[in-house]
Amino acid sequence: MAEVVIVENKTAAGALVADEIVRLIDSKADAVLGLATGSTPTSVYQALREGLAGRDVSKVRGFALDEYVGLDPAHPESYRSVITREVVDPLGLDPQRIRVPNGAAETIEHAGDDYEQEIIDAGGVDLQILGIGTTGHIGFNEPGSSFASTTRVKTLTEQTRVDNARFFTSLDEVPRHCITQGLGTILRARHLVLLAFGEGKAPAVAGAVEGPVTSMLPASAIQLHPHVTVVVDEAAASQLKLADYYRYTFANKPAWQGI
Ligand code: F6R
Repeated sequence: MAEVVIVENKTAAGALVADEIVRLIDSKADAVLGLATGSTPTSVYQALREGLAGRDVSKVRGFALDEYVGLDPAHPESYRSVITREVVDPLGLDPQRIRVPNGAAETIEHAGDDYEQEIIDAGGVDLQILGIGTTGHIGFNEPGSSFASTTRVKTLTEQTRVDNARFFTSLDEVPRHCITQGLGTILRARHLVLLAFGEGKAPAVAGAVEGPVTSMLPASAIQLHPHVTVVVDEAAASQLKLADYYRYTFANKPAWQGI
């Protein structure tokens, strides 16, 4: 099952995950990171600024999870812009080595397959950072997504559009379609690190970790993966039945094991 780590706050989560990423890059200079956007992973990227300072990151590669379809890549809320602003620039990564699915309408028919090939050519993702939507999505794999799915176009649920409207000036501006790594793509990454904060995420987290494995809650696909770390604050952990066991397990874990 997933290892669940319940932390005090976002900052502690960011430090824990950043340490693991630094450890990965120290052991593999050309590590391939799977990059989530949205508000959840920002504390990880923040902690990495310090964690990676002074290290050679010129060979690090990265693949974003998803992108809006038809949104100008120069729009401040395109995931291309977000990844550049929050990850590539502050961490000093090589922009050529950081890929984002191509949401341009003209090439959308083969953009998913192209992206899959790029991930394969890079040797696969070593550590995939994930947030979780209130609908239970990871990436933008909304309920009903196949566990075998690869990068493709998906229609966002109305709930996800409402959740993401805070990044735009109005709900109307939120795109209806996205291109997202599939659940099958995500499951091929070697280590999944799913983060969640706040009470609003508690039902999705409980379903993903302890509920039945079902495409109706796409994040439950993580139960099929051999190496998953779920890092949550108390509020996001509040519906976990085995919360005390997770606390006990982590408190007694040998430090050398990492996450
Ligand atoms: C973002 C992504 C989504 C978000 C999820 C949570 O690249 O793939 O799955 O992680 O929608 O969003 P936030 O973190 O904004 O609550």
